[in-house]
Amino acid sequence: MEKKKFYITTPIYYPSDKLHIGHTYCTVATDAMARYKRLAGYDVMFLTGTDEHGQKIEDKAKEAGVTPKEFVDRIVEGPQGVKDLWKLMNISNDRFIRTTDDYHVAAVQKIFKKMYDNGDIYKGTYKGKYCKPCESFWTESQLVDGKCPDCGREVQDAEEEAYFFRLSKYADKVRDLLENTDFLQPRSRVNEMVKNFIDPGLEDLCVSRTSFTWGIPVDFDPGHVVYVWVDALFNYTTAMGYMNDEHSDYDHYWPADYHFVGKEIVRFHSIIWPAMLMSVGEPLPKHVFGHGWLLLDGGKMSKSKGNVVDPYILAKQFGVDALRFFLMRTFPFGSDGNFSNELLIQTINTDLANDLGNLVSRTTAMVGKYFGGTLPEGCKTWDAPEACDRDLIAMASGLRNAYEAHMESCAPHNALAETFKVIQRANKYIDETAPWALAKDMDANGARLAHVLYNLLEATRICGILLSPFMPDSMAKLFVQIGAPAGCQTWESAAAWGSLPETTTVTKGENLFPRIDMDKALEELEAAEAEAKKAALPAIEVEPQLTEKVDFDTFCKSDFRAVKVKACEAVKKSAKLLKFTLDDGTGVDRQILSGIHKWYEPEDLVGKTLIAIVNLPPRKMMGLESNGMLISAVHTEKGEEALHLIMVDDAIPAGAKLC
Ligand code: MSP
Repeated sequence: MEKKKFYITTPIYYPSDKLHIGHTYCTVATDAMARYKRLAGYDVMFLTGTDEHGQKIEDKAKEAGVTPKEFVDRIVEGPQGVKDLWKLMNISNDRFIRTTDDYHVAAVQKIFKKMYDNGDIYKGTYKGKYCKPCESFWTESQLVDGKCPDCGREVQDAEEEAYFFRLSKYADKVRDLLENTDFLQPRSRVNEMVKNFIDPGLEDLCVSRTSFTWGIPVDFDPGHVVYVWVDALFNYTTAMGYMNDEHSDYDHYWPADYHFVGKEIVRFHSIIWPAMLMSVGEPLPKHVFGHGWLLLDGGKMSKSKGNVVDPYILAKQFGVDALRFFLMRTFPFGSDGNFSNELLIQTINTDLANDLGNLVSRTTAMVGKYFGGTLPEGCKTWDAPEACDRDLIAMASGLRNAYEAHMESCAPHNALAETFKVIQRANKYIDETAPWALAKDMDANGARLAHVLYNLLEATRICGILLSPFMPDSMAKLFVQIGAPAGCQTWESAAAWGSLPETTTVTKGENLFPRIDMDKALEELEAAEAEAKKAALPAIEVEPQLTEKVDFDTFCKSDFRAVKVKACEAVKKSAKLLKFTLDDGTGVDRQILSGIHKWYEPEDLVGKTLIAIVNLPPRKMMGLESNGMLISAVHTEKGEEALHLIMVDDAIPAGAKLC
């Protein structure tokens, strides 16, 4: 039988900065969903990628002194770049699109032309407000307190010749789609969209720009580039082969089953996107799911606010699977959630170390201890099941269906909650059946003990299968430890209690989820974050040169001389100051104080030939007089100020004038 297809996407990410845990959240959720669907037997297409055009990228590249393409290449393909992060997080995307890919560029040009030819795109003048960081145009009425309604930042006036998309023409159809179908989920987002955008009246959308060049050129009108959201949204179709020959599975996979997107881009996906698809006459995606944000201290993470959490640091400290699990288990998918390291550690300790980890290690250890690692034949059944047997078996047998219902309604947190109820039930079952007590009399109770342990292995196996979309690597290890062969790791077997062969052999393996010492881990995280921040700083920074000119005569008034250090000592009670006694060629010693103790020990400077400006007015420091200033070169290195005294050839006599 042909498999049912399932096409799911993440948003394509802006490669403007390193991605953070908020971005990772969305991709991990999509990955868990894609893995679940593959497990359940679907023919899955999972697409992710990068959204590389627009003014923001152009500006950032300029700042970095590279071309926009060089800039995005580094963030997409480079170390700790987008692709690297998805590899680290074990993301199983089937395809990766970059909107700078040639086939996508050519396809978007054709799409734009198609909408122009069918009369849905026309030329006009754009007057309005533009939010540069969000790459969004707004009308006056959409602003909140005069600021961008998405990010709250200042918007700019914008007026230019531009092409417009007849979004207004599709208002009724889009309203119908939102109100009368399950296209947009969760349902609470529908009201938001209708009230904020459709009720006030949908205006036509500006879809080209002329004020910058980093975009897909409108091929029939040079000087215009396609609005980045038109370019970006069509990625979901071009990556399958729409309007290009690079791929050929558009007919197979389109329409997408789900676009998973963050709540701030629901507007683009649920209003603009369907309208544009209607315009080109293509089927609409089946669902858009708008998930919530991961917040830090109550606010959205963003690089500009400096409050981003680095997934590399967390993955290194706690492991990729624990991090993936935490993200999906803790925050209801449709709502915002407050991220904290404490919560992450607590979740790992409670669910993974205590509940799941203990269940696996206790069960396998007991099979090892009491049966040499292999349970005897006949252990699957028990003639007189006790209430606790019946309860555990019923819960574990029914888990797959409950889990499936939650996954199908995009509630992975609930699917995980159900799974952990079974894990907790299994741990309680250990306490109720007290295998260590049964083991005291193996002749009398050996068969019962074998049955108890079989039940525990079975419950663990079923939970392991259903946890595998969330923690693929750890569950593969779990299957080895409980001795579950490939046939017992399937979706079908997750609903078939008793699938595990009776004489399965368990293997004692590594502790899957070691308990974390909260204080120690928090300290280590802090150190790692500080280290990463430092590493991200530019290696060398120098102060920009002054542009204001100084006239020659003024410059000549500064008297720079070579001076020799006769003596040098630290000034008492000062951490910074050194006191220099200098030969300046006049025959009278000159005293200069300099705040350079951080970089030099006094004894290392005696005998050196330095440069000083000698005609500054005297200045008192710590009660001592300083007559002039020693000249140094300064720069910043990895965020730290660095200083080098200018030392010159000792052949230069004291008092020689610099000119
Ligand atoms: N390029 C657009 C998407 C175009 S899709 C055709 C974009 N990119 S983005 O890099 O800014 O964001 C990508 C996704 O990450 C969005 O869904 C956004 O909501 C999500 N997140 C960014 N920060 C987030 C959190 N703090 N929490 C959860 N998701 C967050 O938008």
